[in-house]
Amino acid sequence: MGFETSNGSSSGPLKFLIYGRTGWIGGLLGRICETQGIQYDYGSGRLENRAQLEADVARASPTHVFNAAGVTGRPNVDWCETHKVETIRANVVGTLTLADVCREKGLVLVNYATGCIFEYDEAHPLGSGVGFKEEDTPNFTGSFYSKTKAMVEELLKNYENVCTLRVRMPISSDLSNPRNFITKITRYDKVVDIPNSMTILDELLPISVEMAKRNLTGIWNFTNPGVVSHNEILEMYKDYIDPSFTWKNFNLEEQAKVIVAPRSNNELDATKLKKEFPELLSIKESLINYVFKPNQKTSAA
Ligand SMILES: NC(=O)c1ccc[n+]([C@@H]2O[C@H](COP(=O)([O-])OP(=O)(O)OC[C@H]3O[C@@H](n4cnc5c(N)ncnc54)[C@H](OP(=O)(O)O)[C@@H]3O)[C@@H](O)[C@H]2O)c1
Repeated sequence: MGFETSNGSSSGPLKFLIYGRTGWIGGLLGRICETQGIQYDYGSGRLENRAQLEADVARASPTHVFNAAGVTGRPNVDWCETHKVETIRANVVGTLTLADVCREKGLVLVNYATGCIFEYDEAHPLGSGVGFKEEDTPNFTGSFYSKTKAMVEELLKNYENVCTLRVRMPISSDLSNPRNFITKITRYDKVVDIPNSMTILDELLPISVEMAKRNLTGIWNFTNPGVVSHNEILEMYKDYIDPSFTWKNFNLEEQAKVIVAPRSNNELDATKLKKEFPELLSIKESLINYVFKPNQKTSAA
């Protein structure tokens, strides 16, 4: 299912063009390239500016393009509710423009998208272990961010050069990063407790680089297999990092009072990714291996 690129076989030297230099995922990608000795450049164009993207491609002459640019909202996705045009400009117009430029140049675009376009429903109930598959139609449009991401995913299906990676609740081993899901929930006054699919970036970003090398395209649930709940993560945090840590839970109705737009909770079926990468760890194994053990401050666990 590898895309036939215009730059011939994928056996020559790799050169990545990455969008999102100042962002969390984009920054991590650059470091992975350095570790792996892969040549890379960051794109300097704004995604919605076709001429700038074309100039970036001409300058970098990449073998693959990675899109880790877009707006996720600051301090959170509620920002998108009041900045709809800015959200459309980056996440819809911008992402589609980059996909279109890459297609024209015969380049694979690895696009970090979101899995927050689904919510548990009757066919995929919470706790059932039945996750949403790659071909399922998004059923969560509760926030403007998710609604536009679902629209773009649908349109991107028509681009045979695009590899859409559905990222969810990203976690990294850098527990000081305020974007890290673990860091977020340890700092909230109160947290809900719902099992979800999540993405351990330390394990999965190198996999996305490998996916590019294999020229894989199409939609991929880009999460570790299985689910983990907020409380399960906080229990691990207590065991490995801070035995004195305490937290308070609240329910979805109470949460709704402190946020603007509803949030998605779901399980994605990661079977397709696991089949391509059999070494992929389950979410709980990956959390311990890639996040908690490297940060361990206790003698317990
Ligand atoms: N973090 C999450 O919770 C999460 C969850 C699921 C999926 N994702 C996906 O992963 C992607 C990257 O996430 P992230 O957390 O790394 O985001 P981030 O830290 O907010 O970084 C976003 C990057 O996008 C750039 N950017 C924004 N608008 C742009 C535009 N119009 N043209 C060019 N660059 C633009 C920003 O650069 P400037 O500062 O110059 O604007 C920044 O470098 C997101 O698009 C999202 O779809 C993230």
